Amino acid sequence: MRTKASPAAEAFEDLADRYEAWYDTTPGRVLFDLELAALRPLLAGTARPRLEVGVGSGRFAAALGIEVGLDPAEAPLRLAKARGVRVVRGAGEQLPFGDNTFGAVALVVTLCFAENPAGVLTEVSRVLGAGGRLVVGLVPLDSAWGRSYEEKGREGHPFYRHARFQTLVEYRRMLATAGFRLVEARSTLFQAPGDGPVVEPVRGGAVAGAGFVALAVQREEAGAC
Ligand SMILES: C[S@@+](CC[C@H](N)C(=O)[O-])C[C@H]1O[C@@H](n2cnc3c(N)ncnc32)[C@H](O)[C@@H]1O
Repeated sequence: MRTKASPAAEAFEDLADRYEAWYDTTPGRVLFDLELAALRPLLAGTARPRLEVGVGSGRFAAALGIEVGLDPAEAPLRLAKARGVRVVRGAGEQLPFGDNTFGAVALVVTLCFAENPAGVLTEVSRVLGAGGRLVVGLVPLDSAWGRSYEEKGREGHPFYRHARFQTLVEYRRMLATAGFRLVEARSTLFQAPGDGPVVEPVRGGAVAGAGFVALAVQREEAGAC
């Protein structure tokens, strides 16, 4: 028996075509390339197989060489499958994979849509192999983009009204509480929403004010000093 989909998952199910079409607009293409440029070096060289939790239509997974994608919404999964991603329907809070299965896991703008983001991190920690890496793509609330998306959500935006954005410090605290330590980070989108968008450089580190931050973290292994 399948558990009931969350309102967020239902929105991505019902509006998969709209979400997908946005990536083909000029702003969509620019933002996708910037976010990809932040994420790519953090996944480079990680062990396989790789998993994306909240894979959506699979654009990032396909571009980042991630073989397996999980999502609770079926319609985007069909698009991900057409991109060559091996897809599995399910929720991040209850991953249908064994312990220590993956060399790397990605979560790209998904924690904010999960009903229990801490539960997702617990499950990701379980399925990651020893020395495996989690790469998280975030839109921090304490950025012009986070504030803009939150405002749109309050006004009833079909996707953002289901999101709970958090500040960069809150995301980092949640990762630390789940037993992950930061190993590398990249930041981009320092321009304000409505400024183009324009191509800009990606900076090293988790930089305050960035509209998109990619964090690479690893599990604190027991006994490590
Ligand atoms: C903003 S989309 C991101 C999709 C893809 N990562 C991308 O960046 O294009 C968020 C995705 O999270 C999925 N999602 C919502 N709740 C989830 C959960 N509990 N576990 C895993 N994925 C979830 C949604 O169905 C949606 O596909």
